[in-house]
Amino acid sequence: MKRIAVLTSGGDAPGMNAAIRAVVRTGLDKGWEVYGVRHGYAGLIAGNMQPMTARDVGGIIQQGGTILGSARCPEFKTEEGRWQAIRAMNMRGIDALVVIGGNGSQSGAYELSKMGFHVVGVASTIDNDLAGSEMTIGVDTALNIALEAIDRLKVTASSHQRAFMVEVMGRDCGYLALMSGIAGGAEVIVIPEIETTPEEVAQKIRTAYERGKAHALAVVAEGAKYDAEALSKYFAEHRERLGFQVRATTLGHVQRGGAPGAFDRILATRLGAGATRFLEQGGHGCLMGLIKGEIRATPYSEVIGVKKQLDLSLLELSRALEH
Ligand code: ADP
Ligand code: F6P
Repeated sequence: MKRIAVLTSGGDAPGMNAAIRAVVRTGLDKGWEVYGVRHGYAGLIAGNMQPMTARDVGGIIQQGGTILGSARCPEFKTEEGRWQAIRAMNMRGIDALVVIGGNGSQSGAYELSKMGFHVVGVASTIDNDLAGSEMTIGVDTALNIALEAIDRLKVTASSHQRAFMVEVMGRDCGYLALMSGIAGGAEVIVIPEIETTPEEVAQKIRTAYERGKAHALAVVAEGAKYDAEALSKYFAEHRERLGFQVRATTLGHVQRGGAPGAFDRILATRLGAGATRFLEQGGHGCLMGLIKGEIRATPYSEVIGVKKQLDLSLLELSRALEH
């Protein structure tokens, strides 16, 4: 019999629970024991893990967040911290670990696998910044939450002929900003991948008014060189010359806390099941991701440190749609 452990790490993402459920139930279905680790790598180091039953993961597929808890754990970045984690798993006879999380968490998983422990990753982050998966768990739900906020802001912006700026998450990746900007019909999209100066943003807003629009909306990625705070400062300093005011809304963690939509529940279920299937076949040291509609395993060496490319032709498209 195989004994595996599962944990969630880093920023939580809607759909993590569906992934935990899939790992636990497909693992049990194979006749394995599945341990749930509390609070990510911190719980792994502390040996905070218990066997889970099918009932423990009942009624969670529709819940955001993670029932196992998540954490950022600096200690895991040290070799000693990771040996401690391996010792804690060895003591319980655990043969393999499933890590559900984003870029940082999978970097940790890669380090663990280089030390000889069998690990499989499940791509889960609202940032969609993991090479090895075209879509990661949580991004679709976060995108829809951002979109709902954008739609609402456009209503009030139009009523007052105002310009609005919405800052979305994504760390260093512009995916959420680009996609919510396109889906929300934004006049300006600012992403970290392409530098946009405050004056360029101001000119685009002015052009929107000149075109007779009732409002102007800028979607700004938190990781952009000029984020919402920097842009607000610039607009305040040049208010008289520009002749308009811009109100800023930072969506922040609101984007992370939603209930997962159908896409994320299904993706999480397929990836979780893919992880146990891969382990059953003797695979490890890989990230399970969505590639061309299929669940595939990509070696960590081809994922970690590899920058995922944004489709920048979509930014060009958004420029054509500004009219
Ligand atoms: P996310 O997984 O959402 O990107 P973080 O970047 O905060 O979140 O990473 C989560 C955790 O993964 C960190 O707190 C740390 O414990 C672990 N981690 C991140 N990078 C590394 C690394 N290079 N080596 C070992 N562990 C890491
Ligand atoms: O990685 C997910 C994410 O939500 C990023 O978009 C954001 O930069 C970061 O986590 C916020 O981290 P914290 O929850 O620690 O504030």
